[in-house]
Amino acid sequence: MFEQPRTVLLAGAGGGIAKAIGAELARRSAGITLLTVSRGKGERVPGHTGKRHHLSASLDQADAIASIEHFLCECSTPPNWVINCCGLLHDKTHGPEKSLDQCDDNWLMQSIRINLLTHLHLAQALNRQLQRRQPLLWASLSARVGSIGDNRLGGWYSYRISKAGLNMLIRNLSIEWGRRLENSCVVAIHPGTTDTPLSKPFQTNLAPGKLYSAALSARRMVDVLEQLGPADSGQLLFWDGSQLPW
Ligand SMILES: NC(=O)c1ccc[n+]([C@@H]2O[C@H](COP(=O)([O-])OP(=O)(O)OC[C@H]3O[C@@H](n4cnc5c(N)ncnc54)[C@H](OP(=O)(O)O)[C@@H]3O)[C@@H](O)[C@H]2O)c1
Repeated sequence: MFEQPRTVLLAGAGGGIAKAIGAELARRSAGITLLTVSRGKGERVPGHTGKRHHLSASLDQADAIASIEHFLCECSTPPNWVINCCGLLHDKTHGPEKSLDQCDDNWLMQSIRINLLTHLHLAQALNRQLQRRQPLLWASLSARVGSIGDNRLGGWYSYRISKAGLNMLIRNLSIEWGRRLENSCVVAIHPGTTDTPLSKPFQTNLAPGKLYSAALSARRMVDVLEQLGPADSGQLLFWDGSQLPW
């Protein structure tokens, strides 16, 4: 089993699931140190009494790498857990494509920016500061629909493509950091369909009981992360801890 969270870097901290993860971590250990990164100012985490450092940054921009490096240096304690919650499924004018005809270059590139580059940039920022003996658990919130092996329905091109790219990033990262660090675990995890702004437009056709509150999803994912060890690195996980095909 990996070590329990002491200092957690939570990226995309303004999102629905991220806020619930922050609250869940504080519920388990009120004095935990939280390092948060989001485009916003950084809201108070309910129940949290420990140290808190916040960086306002847009992780899809390459200049965020230097800002995060500087932020991590100033925070003095390196994170032993990193959870990146950044992701995008729709905006005011775009949503998941039902067919090839609906694909649009700009939307695909924007999806890649938010679903993939936000995770790549955070990893690049952390990479330069990692010490061989420093334990590190990294979890990227991905999505089951980003699994190529599990795709039987098609559609949702931009989201699927960008999450599949994220999944490959995570697999690569698990290999590189697995070689470099004595004690690391790098995974992608699917939270389940969770009641947040991201899923709002797609909640009507869900089977009863298949939409989970952010608090429940956060609790289940933290339960899973707490059980992981280095041998679990390089997996795409379902919210119950079972393995999904890449
Ligand atoms: N909700 C679900 O049903 C569901 C299902 C499967 C997977 N997921 C995944 O779970 C993760 C969290 O989703 P959520 O449901 O909590 O959604 P959410 O409330 O919409 O949060 C989205 C997150 O992405 C970041 N983000 C969005 N647009 C961005 C942009 N233009 N530039 C930089 N960052 C941006 C936000 O960061 P800021 O803090 O900077 O605002 C926020 O943390 C995502 O990766 C999503 O794909 C969710």
